[in-house]
Amino acid sequence: MGSLDTNPMSFSALPNDKAAFEPLNPEDVRAYLHKAVDFISDYYTNVESMHVLPNVKPGYLQDELSASPPTYSAPFDVTMKELRTSVVPGMTHWASPNFFAFFPSTNSAAAIAGDLIASAMNSVGFTWQASPAATEMEVLALDWLAQLLRLPTTFMNRTSNGRGTGGGVILGTTSEAMLVTLVAARDAALRRTGSVGVSDIPRLTVYAADQTHSTFFKACRLAGFDPANIRSISTGPETNYGLDPAKLLEAMQADANAGLVPTYVCVTVGTTSSNAVDPVGAVADIAAMFNAWVHVDAAYAGSACICPEFRHHLDGVERVDSISMSPHKWLLTCLDCTCLYVRDAHRLSDSLETNPEYLKNDATESGEVTDLKDMQVGVGRRFRGLKLWMVMRTYGTAKLQEHIRSDVAMAKMFEDFVRADGRFEVVVPRNFALVCFRIKASGAMTEEDADEVNRVLMENLNKTGKAYLAHTVVGDKFVLRFAVGSSLQEEGHVRSVWDLIKKTTSSIMN
Ligand SMILES: Cc1ncc(COP(=O)(O)O)c(C=O)c1O
Repeated sequence: MGSLDTNPMSFSALPNDKAAFEPLNPEDVRAYLHKAVDFISDYYTNVESMHVLPNVKPGYLQDELSASPPTYSAPFDVTMKELRTSVVPGMTHWASPNFFAFFPSTNSAAAIAGDLIASAMNSVGFTWQASPAATEMEVLALDWLAQLLRLPTTFMNRTSNGRGTGGGVILGTTSEAMLVTLVAARDAALRRTGSVGVSDIPRLTVYAADQTHSTFFKACRLAGFDPANIRSISTGPETNYGLDPAKLLEAMQADANAGLVPTYVCVTVGTTSSNAVDPVGAVADIAAMFNAWVHVDAAYAGSACICPEFRHHLDGVERVDSISMSPHKWLLTCLDCTCLYVRDAHRLSDSLETNPEYLKNDATESGEVTDLKDMQVGVGRRFRGLKLWMVMRTYGTAKLQEHIRSDVAMAKMFEDFVRADGRFEVVVPRNFALVCFRIKASGAMTEEDADEVNRVLMENLNKTGKAYLAHTVVGDKFVLRFAVGSSLQEEGHVRSVWDLIKKTTSSIMN
């Protein structure tokens, strides 16, 4: 390949260009998908031996494949060959058992099957009527997951007493969950202040710990909050980088005294940087004094809360307004799948509802159904509920809990290795399956030297292709993050990477 495909005849001789064009011919569907499924199965067999981080330069793909689209058709085998030879070598292999960066993106056969079938059906269930089963499946899957998380029934679409006042929706990302709840909270606050239109927006204030994911601050700007009214509350080692309720109260009170309107607090259970946990119940009590909306971002750690031993991290959730968690991070459900629950679904739909003539239908008019378009930004939507339901239906709660516990046990094993080696330190206490560690400053090595040594350690590890770790900064220290959980990971992988870390550290220190 290499250069631009300028020859318009390159694929023109293929006989099937003369045949009728039937892109959804059932026999082609069967043949193409068999090849795709064989590819996937082989990929999972071989991914462990592939370099986790690819060694490619920016723009490499355009150099390998044609820069212009082909005019004429090609056999599907040509497409698959280019996938194998050009695309796979440039992938970062999130599915590799040697992937320990960021948070894992977990997956399972049941989820992939659900996603595949949803793609094939390709329904666009914006209203109940546009695809009753897609809407009902999403509602059912969310209610099942709510029970796994032991959320109060006030968050459920349906309870044993019939339709509930709460509700859920599956979105693509946590950022969207933050955005839609911020908009609902903004509108509720404007109603409370008796604002003329949006005239009071400059008075509305929002709050989050400085460890909150940066996407929250972006969502606030998207929702129209004045950046000067976004309060980032500082945290430190005294609360293990969780939000200090006293500091929150002080900030909210100061704003209220100044005639501002505290509107929204974002609480994180399992921060991205170090897995810190903000105290949900204490924050909810403070926010209630100001009528502010509380949202819990449990994107990663929410999955752990299906195990009774981790559920205490959500204590107080019955007093918050919304919570979101992403099974695509740690509950074996492929991207994208962020589950948002709100205690009063009407507060979302009051802000997000649209009702154009062309979508009007009897089911909506009856008030008996949920139209999920009214709980999200877009109108169109993927049938995401299917894969989530398939995961829960196929594996059952016990196996899902076992999966979480096994990852946590591997992380604990790694943490024990780190603690037993005097050259290293665990920088913050481990809450879930993330270990934040580093080579510690000792002897003549200053903290700044240690930062540099740890950076070199990470770079050297990642260069081997045998492991991929990412970093963060906690309390001004450069820290390596070791996130266990990639679905193919087993104890042996953790042990091998630890051996690699020790060896690489020795060679750097020497
Ligand atoms: C705690 C937390 N919140 C929010 C996000 C951002 O999520 P998304 O990319 O789904 O918007 C992440 C991503 O890792 C996260 O860990």
